Amino acid sequence: MGEQEKKQTVKSTADWVRDQLLTESTGHDWYHIERVTEMAKAIAAEEGADLFVVEMAALLHDLADDKLVASEEEGIQEINNWLVDRSVEKADSAHIIEIIETISFSKGKPLRTLEAKVVQDADRLDAIGAIGIARTFQYAGAKGHVLYDPKANVRTEMTKAEYRSGQGSAIHHFYEKLLLLKDRMNTHTGKKLAESRHAFMEQFLKRFYAEWDGNG
Ligand code: ADP
Ligand code: NI
Repeated sequence: MGEQEKKQTVKSTADWVRDQLLTESTGHDWYHIERVTEMAKAIAAEEGADLFVVEMAALLHDLADDKLVASEEEGIQEINNWLVDRSVEKADSAHIIEIIETISFSKGKPLRTLEAKVVQDADRLDAIGAIGIARTFQYAGAKGHVLYDPKANVRTEMTKAEYRSGQGSAIHHFYEKLLLLKDRMNTHTGKKLAESRHAFMEQFLKRFYAEWDGNG
Protein backbone atom coordinates (compact mmCIF):
# COMPACT_ATOMS: atom_id res chain seq x y z
CA MET A 1 0.00 0.00 0.00
CA GLY A 2 1.39 3.39 -0.96
CA GLU A 3 1.23 6.51 1.21
CA GLN A 4 -1.64 7.92 -0.83
CA GLU A 5 -3.68 4.73 -0.46
CA LYS A 6 -3.01 4.67 3.26
CA LYS A 7 -4.22 8.24 3.57
CA GLN A 8 -7.40 7.41 1.68
CA THR A 9 -7.97 4.33 3.84
CA VAL A 10 -7.58 6.33 7.05
CA LYS A 11 -10.04 8.92 5.75
CA SER A 12 -12.72 6.46 4.73
CA THR A 13 -12.28 4.55 7.99
CA ALA A 14 -12.75 7.75 10.01
CA ASP A 15 -15.95 8.49 8.03
CA TRP A 16 -17.23 4.96 8.64
CA VAL A 17 -16.55 5.09 12.39
CA ARG A 18 -18.00 8.62 12.70
CA ASP A 19 -21.24 7.48 11.07
CA GLN A 20 -21.60 4.67 13.57
CA LEU A 21 -20.63 6.52 16.75
CA LEU A 22 -21.87 10.06 16.34
CA THR A 23 -24.92 9.41 18.50
CA GLU A 24 -23.41 6.77 20.80
CA SER A 25 -23.90 7.64 24.49
CA THR A 26 -22.16 4.99 26.60
CA GLY A 27 -18.80 6.72 26.64
CA HIS A 28 -17.60 5.72 23.19
CA ASP A 29 -18.92 8.60 21.15
CA TRP A 30 -17.07 9.79 18.04
CA TYR A 31 -15.31 12.61 19.90
CA HIS A 32 -13.73 10.04 22.25
CA ILE A 33 -12.43 8.22 19.17
CA GLU A 34 -11.22 11.48 17.63
CA ARG A 35 -9.35 12.53 20.81
CA VAL A 36 -7.80 9.08 21.24
CA THR A 37 -6.73 9.02 17.58
CA GLU A 38 -5.09 12.46 17.77
CA MET A 39 -3.38 11.56 21.05
CA ALA A 40 -2.22 8.21 19.65
CA LYS A 41 -0.72 9.94 16.60
CA ALA A 42 1.16 12.41 18.81
CA ILE A 43 2.52 9.63 21.05
CA ALA A 44 3.39 7.48 18.00
CA ALA A 45 5.42 10.34 16.52
CA GLU A 46 7.37 10.74 19.78
CA GLU A 47 7.93 7.02 20.23
CA GLY A 48 8.68 6.15 16.61
CA ALA A 49 5.68 3.81 16.17
CA ASP A 50 4.09 2.89 12.83
CA LEU A 51 1.67 5.76 12.19
CA PHE A 52 -0.69 3.93 9.85
CA VAL A 53 -1.23 0.97 12.17
CA VAL A 54 -1.62 3.26 15.21
CA GLU A 55 -4.09 5.59 13.53
CA MET A 56 -6.21 2.75 12.12
CA ALA A 57 -6.26 0.84 15.42
CA ALA A 58 -7.19 3.99 17.35
CA LEU A 59 -10.06 4.75 14.97
CA LEU A 60 -11.40 1.20 15.21
CA HIS A 61 -10.54 0.43 18.85
CA ASP A 62 -14.03 0.60 20.34
CA LEU A 63 -16.00 -0.95 17.48
CA ALA A 64 -15.70 -4.49 18.83
CA ASP A 65 -17.03 -3.49 22.26
CA ASP A 66 -20.01 -5.63 23.17
CA LYS A 67 -21.87 -2.50 24.22
CA LEU A 68 -21.98 -1.63 20.52
CA VAL A 69 -22.21 -4.94 18.68
CA ALA A 70 -23.94 -8.25 19.40
CA SER A 71 -20.62 -9.91 20.26
CA GLU A 72 -16.96 -8.99 20.28
CA GLU A 73 -16.33 -11.73 17.76
CA GLU A 74 -18.86 -10.26 15.37
CA GLY A 75 -17.32 -6.81 15.82
CA ILE A 76 -13.87 -8.16 15.00
CA GLN A 77 -15.23 -9.96 11.94
CA GLU A 78 -16.79 -6.76 10.67
CA ILE A 79 -13.54 -4.84 11.17
CA ASN A 80 -11.64 -7.59 9.38
CA ASN A 81 -14.03 -7.42 6.40
CA TRP A 82 -13.61 -3.67 6.30
CA LEU A 83 -9.81 -3.97 6.18
CA VAL A 84 -9.89 -6.73 3.54
CA ASP A 85 -12.26 -4.67 1.36
CA ARG A 86 -9.81 -1.77 1.55
CA SER A 87 -6.89 -4.02 0.56
CA VAL A 88 -4.97 -3.29 3.75
CA GLU A 89 -1.87 -5.49 3.75
CA LYS A 90 -2.34 -8.73 5.65
CA ALA A 91 0.41 -8.07 8.19
CA ASP A 92 -1.03 -4.62 8.93
CA SER A 93 -4.62 -5.82 9.33
CA ALA A 94 -3.52 -8.68 11.59
CA HIS A 95 -1.59 -6.17 13.69
CA ILE A 96 -4.52 -3.71 13.84
CA ILE A 97 -6.90 -6.48 14.93
CA GLU A 98 -4.47 -7.76 17.53
CA ILE A 99 -4.29 -4.26 19.03
CA ILE A 100 -8.08 -3.95 19.20
CA GLU A 101 -8.38 -7.40 20.79
CA THR A 102 -5.69 -6.89 23.40
CA ILE A 103 -6.60 -3.38 24.48
CA SER A 104 -10.37 -3.74 24.50
CA PHE A 105 -11.19 -7.08 25.99
CA SER A 106 -8.30 -9.40 26.69
CA LYS A 107 -7.43 -7.16 29.61
CA GLY A 108 -4.41 -8.22 31.57
CA LYS A 109 -2.86 -9.80 28.50
CA PRO A 110 0.54 -8.21 27.87
CA LEU A 111 0.69 -5.99 24.83
CA ARG A 112 3.09 -7.34 22.25
CA THR A 113 4.00 -4.31 20.18
CA LEU A 114 4.90 -0.65 20.56
CA GLU A 115 1.84 0.25 18.48
CA ALA A 116 -0.49 -1.55 20.92
CA LYS A 117 1.13 0.27 23.84
CA VAL A 118 0.69 3.63 22.13
CA VAL A 119 -3.03 3.10 21.43
CA GLN A 120 -3.69 1.83 24.96
CA ASP A 121 -1.91 4.84 26.46
CA ALA A 122 -3.99 7.22 24.33
CA ASP A 123 -7.22 5.45 25.38
CA ARG A 124 -6.17 5.60 29.02
CA LEU A 125 -5.26 9.29 28.85
CA ASP A 126 -8.84 9.98 27.73
CA ALA A 127 -10.06 8.23 30.89
CA ILE A 128 -8.17 10.61 33.24
CA GLY A 129 -7.88 14.37 33.75
CA ALA A 130 -10.80 16.76 33.21
CA ILE A 131 -12.22 14.74 30.32
CA GLY A 132 -11.88 11.53 32.30
CA ILE A 133 -13.78 13.08 35.20
CA ALA A 134 -16.55 14.24 32.85
CA ARG A 135 -16.82 10.81 31.20
CA THR A 136 -16.99 9.10 34.58
CA PHE A 137 -19.98 11.16 35.68
CA GLN A 138 -21.65 10.71 32.31
CA TYR A 139 -21.20 6.95 32.57
CA ALA A 140 -22.41 6.81 36.18
CA GLY A 141 -25.47 8.89 35.27
CA ALA A 142 -26.28 6.65 32.31
CA LYS A 143 -26.03 3.56 34.53
CA GLY A 144 -28.02 5.07 37.40
CA HIS A 145 -25.11 4.91 39.84
CA VAL A 146 -24.99 7.26 42.79
CA LEU A 147 -22.63 10.23 42.82
CA TYR A 148 -20.86 9.26 46.02
CA ASP A 149 -21.61 7.00 48.92
CA PRO A 150 -20.04 8.44 52.08
CA LYS A 151 -20.69 5.19 53.95
CA ALA A 152 -18.45 3.25 51.55
CA ASN A 153 -14.94 4.01 52.64
CA VAL A 154 -13.54 5.05 49.28
CA ARG A 155 -11.37 7.88 50.55
CA THR A 156 -8.82 5.45 51.77
CA GLU A 157 -7.62 2.46 49.83
CA MET A 158 -10.48 -0.03 49.55
CA THR A 159 -10.05 -3.75 49.54
CA LYS A 160 -11.71 -5.75 46.79
CA ALA A 161 -14.11 -7.32 49.28
CA GLU A 162 -15.14 -3.93 50.58
CA TYR A 163 -15.69 -2.72 47.06
CA ARG A 164 -17.86 -5.68 46.15
CA SER A 165 -20.04 -5.17 49.17
CA GLY A 166 -20.60 -1.52 48.34
CA GLN A 167 -22.67 0.22 45.70
CA GLY A 168 -20.84 1.47 42.64
CA SER A 169 -20.54 5.24 42.66
CA ALA A 170 -18.93 7.75 40.35
CA ILE A 171 -16.39 8.77 43.01
CA HIS A 172 -15.67 5.12 43.56
CA HIS A 173 -14.54 4.70 39.98
CA PHE A 174 -11.56 6.97 40.70
CA TYR A 175 -10.25 4.38 43.14
CA GLU A 176 -11.00 1.28 41.13
CA LYS A 177 -9.50 2.64 37.91
CA LEU A 178 -8.70 6.29 37.27
CA LEU A 179 -6.09 6.86 39.97
CA LEU A 180 -4.32 3.61 39.05
CA LEU A 181 -3.73 4.47 35.42
CA LYS A 182 -0.80 6.87 35.90
CA ASP A 183 1.47 4.04 37.03
CA ARG A 184 0.26 1.72 34.30
CA MET A 185 1.16 3.80 31.30
CA ASN A 186 3.26 1.91 28.76
CA THR A 187 5.31 4.60 27.04
CA HIS A 188 7.55 7.35 28.33
CA THR A 189 5.47 9.96 26.48
CA GLY A 190 2.24 8.55 27.92
CA LYS A 191 3.64 8.58 31.46
CA LYS A 192 4.66 12.22 31.12
CA LEU A 193 1.24 13.25 29.78
CA ALA A 194 -0.55 11.32 32.55
CA GLU A 195 1.12 13.25 35.36
CA SER A 196 -0.73 16.56 35.17
CA ARG A 197 -4.01 14.83 34.42
CA HIS A 198 -3.50 12.69 37.51
CA ALA A 199 -2.63 15.71 39.65
CA PHE A 200 -5.81 17.44 38.47
CA MET A 201 -7.94 14.47 39.55
CA GLU A 202 -6.32 14.51 42.99
CA GLN A 203 -7.08 18.23 43.28
CA PHE A 204 -10.64 17.59 42.16
CA LEU A 205 -11.16 14.92 44.82
CA LYS A 206 -9.66 17.13 47.50
CA ARG A 207 -12.11 19.91 46.72
CA PHE A 208 -14.97 17.48 46.33
CA TYR A 209 -14.43 16.16 49.85
CA ALA A 210 -13.85 19.64 51.29
CA GLU A 211 -17.14 20.87 49.85
CA TRP A 212 -18.91 17.67 50.88
CA ASP A 213 -17.66 18.16 54.43
CA GLY A 214 -18.70 21.81 54.47
CA ASN A 215 -15.13 23.07 54.47
CA GLY A 216 -14.86 24.38 50.95
P1 ADP B 1 -12.69 3.15 27.20
O1 ADP B 1 -11.84 1.96 27.47
O2 ADP B 1 -12.86 3.44 25.75
O3 ADP B 1 -12.29 4.37 27.98
P2 ADP B 1 -14.87 2.07 28.90
O4 ADP B 1 -16.06 1.35 28.36
O5 ADP B 1 -13.95 1.32 29.76
O6 ADP B 1 -14.18 2.75 27.62
O7 ADP B 1 -15.40 3.32 29.70
C1 ADP B 1 -16.01 4.42 29.14
C2 ADP B 1 -15.90 5.60 30.12
O8 ADP B 1 -16.71 5.34 31.27
C3 ADP B 1 -14.48 5.80 30.66
O9 ADP B 1 -14.23 7.16 30.85
C4 ADP B 1 -14.50 5.05 31.97
O10 ADP B 1 -13.55 5.51 32.92
C5 ADP B 1 -15.92 5.29 32.43
N1 ADP B 1 -16.40 4.16 33.26
C6 ADP B 1 -16.25 2.83 33.02
N2 ADP B 1 -16.77 2.10 34.06
C7 ADP B 1 -17.25 3.01 34.95
C8 ADP B 1 -17.91 2.91 36.24
N3 ADP B 1 -18.17 1.75 36.82
N4 ADP B 1 -18.25 4.08 36.87
C9 ADP B 1 -18.00 5.27 36.30
N5 ADP B 1 -17.38 5.44 35.10
C10 ADP B 1 -17.01 4.33 34.44
NI1 NI C 1 -11.87 3.90 24.05
